[in-house]
Amino acid sequence: MRQAGRYLPQYRKVREKTTFLNLCKTPELAAQVTLQPIDLLKVDAAIIFSDILMVPEAMGLTLTLNEKEGPRLFPTIKDSSGVKRLKIPKPEKAYDFLGKAMGLVRKNLNGSTPLIGFAGSPWTLMAYMVEGRGSRDWCGVKRMIYGEPKKAHQLLSKLADAVTDSLNFQIESGAQALQIFDSWGGILGPKEFEEFSLAYVKRVITGLKRQGAPVIFFAKGSGAQLEKIVKCGAQVISLDWTVDLAWASQKTKGKVALQGNLDPCILYCSPQRIRAAVKDTLNKARNSSGYIFNLGHGILPDTPPEHAKFLVECVKKESEK
Ligand code: CP3
Repeated sequence: MRQAGRYLPQYRKVREKTTFLNLCKTPELAAQVTLQPIDLLKVDAAIIFSDILMVPEAMGLTLTLNEKEGPRLFPTIKDSSGVKRLKIPKPEKAYDFLGKAMGLVRKNLNGSTPLIGFAGSPWTLMAYMVEGRGSRDWCGVKRMIYGEPKKAHQLLSKLADAVTDSLNFQIESGAQALQIFDSWGGILGPKEFEEFSLAYVKRVITGLKRQGAPVIFFAKGSGAQLEKIVKCGAQVISLDWTVDLAWASQKTKGKVALQGNLDPCILYCSPQRIRAAVKDTLNKARNSSGYIFNLGHGILPDTPPEHAKFLVECVKKESEK
């Protein structure tokens, strides 16, 4: 997760010369930074360099990214007229740059490493579109679901269509697996999670023409809802470090594979400490019905790149045992 990013000096070098948005929208550059972690870290899969906020941008909002403040979207969605103004983008036009970047990556990888496409869940995108930015309490979007649920459902419904189209376009453009990031499902209570997040993830997955490509659902902060999440239609459930993988393996056995869930902060520590954490994670996942090692959230910008490299080597070595 964010395996291409600011912790890599090679990424910063490309990024120095351009804006984040330009980087996403220039196929040659997006392909170049997608491939960096494959060459440098030897990870087993590439994830296309883009962002979940490309969908709200294509729907008509303006997206900016300031390094200190993170991403901003405006105008924020306040009422039904805001929802009505949102376009359902034509993917071939709106994400032309993404399709081209995927083509370049597939050509370069030449079958050696699979390519993952991705999107934000409708709920996570809605949270950014109503707040206009990341938030500590997400009061604006919560006020909408509790006070004006009809409006929230209108927005989520439109987002589900746009996300489905974006993912189907990525499959056509060469994605061999799809990941749906529900980064903010964990701020919801169980009932609201089901109604405003999971229901729309199910709708997206049902609408995919996935041609055999597996779907990975990243359920950040929603481990307590695992029993419901297992039924969302994804083949793989990706978890953060707050969930015990042995417990999750037991709950999901015979139903879905698991992905996760090392705390990215482990990467600040010594190789010995990293190895111990890897062993523990692999051990906990050993009874699952399929397992993909990953971090439980995005790699942090001040992570030493040599620690990330060590992590990958260590996972490969330890999982052979
Ligand atoms: O390597 C990869 O994983 C592929 C690229 C990727 C990015 N964002 C690039 C990026 C992926 C898969 C994402 C997903 C994403 N984007 C999520 C879901 C996963 C998660 O982290 O929960 C979310 C919530 C976003 C929204 C977003 N985009 C945020 C909150 C930020 C700021 C983060 C930061 O570290 O500053 C971004 C910007 C962003 N997206 C960067 C990268 C590499 C940093 C951009 C830069 O300054 O160069």
